[in-house]
Amino acid sequence: MSETSKEVQTASITERLAALGSERWAAHFEGRERIATGEDLIELTIGEPDVATPPHLIEAAARSMKAGRTRYSSGKGEAVLLEAVAQKYAARTGRAISPGQVLAFPGTQAALAICMMALVEKGDAVLVPDPCYATYEGVVRATGADFVPVATSAGNGFHLTAEQLETAIRPGVRGLLLNSPHNPTGAVLSDREIAAIGDVCRKHDLWILSDEVYENLIFDAAFASPFDRDDLADRTIVTSSISKSHAAPGFRAGWAVGPQSFIDRTLGISEAILFGGQPFIADMTALALTQPDDTARTMTETYMRRSRLLRAAFQDTPALNPLMPEAGMFMLLDVSASGMDGETFANRLLDFGVSAMPGSSFGAQAKNFIRLSLTVADSRLEEAAGRIVECARGGA
Ligand SMILES: Cc1ncc(COP(=O)(O)O)c(C=O)c1O
Repeated sequence: MSETSKEVQTASITERLAALGSERWAAHFEGRERIATGEDLIELTIGEPDVATPPHLIEAAARSMKAGRTRYSSGKGEAVLLEAVAQKYAARTGRAISPGQVLAFPGTQAALAICMMALVEKGDAVLVPDPCYATYEGVVRATGADFVPVATSAGNGFHLTAEQLETAIRPGVRGLLLNSPHNPTGAVLSDREIAAIGDVCRKHDLWILSDEVYENLIFDAAFASPFDRDDLADRTIVTSSISKSHAAPGFRAGWAVGPQSFIDRTLGISEAILFGGQPFIADMTALALTQPDDTARTMTETYMRRSRLLRAAFQDTPALNPLMPEAGMFMLLDVSASGMDGETFANRLLDFGVSAMPGSSFGAQAKNFIRLSLTVADSRLEEAAGRIVECARGGA
């Protein structure tokens, strides 16, 4: 029997996660294959900042590496980074935040997965607003807990409401995985909305795991977080990184911040999986967090401009109804008036020379949409918009 055809015995986690990975990215991979065969295809699937990581940060990492900061770190992370993260949140919340409330992680993704492991297990359930970022179901299901989508509505720009949350409460629910600013919808929850959501979380004694990776990419709205509210801080864990804020996703530089007792208990899991990060990346990240930098502001202006450019390009096509994002690097486009759902539209769009994510990759509530990434140059985006219009006019 060849190695590839051999049946292997693995733990149930591998089955729970098996269907959650690449299937959702089928349109992306199909687009990549077409590009590889020489097709002129515009890729609007993934959200990778299209600006360079600031050179002074790359130089800082290189300097630090050359200075010998290439040894093992501690399980918690480098002191300089924990201090910088604590300072960021002390300034933001107006409360004293100690480095002991922080754990360093290689990106928000790892922070989410490990914090979720610390919160829930088989028999528990986690509420996740639908639509949501494509990895969230895996983050929850990896723990053995149930993933419970909470339907949000396009009618109010997919802002999660307290009523929607309350309706989804069921036995075993232990936490809410919140994401504001939100991917894929671009929704930014206001402090009032978070207060109302927080009331439900307090009533049912839920943890809030708050993914704030797009904090610095907000267009017009004001950022708000449950962690910044004194009445919710003791049940909130924030995860974030410099992937988006400093156009540095490849550095895998993130963190979690929360109540000290939670952080203390989570350390053991982080040590079992990671045992620390790279000191030279910690040095660079600490610098990113403590020095002024306009990367995020420039990106924000660029993505806002591009979302308006797309809106203008679609305005004479009744089959295409954009949902204007309030933040982030994506725009949802309702294609249902073309007679197609998002998946049919995205598949067909490949033949018109554009790859985009079907909304269904992010949850049932987004099935009428496709998600467009705003991370390509204006001229290419305009070209892509023209092709999307052609695809819509082609009908079902
Ligand atoms: C909502 C959301 N959370 C987390 C991540 C992953 O961030 P990181 O690079 O910090 O792991 C992304 C990346 O696209 C995202 O959109």
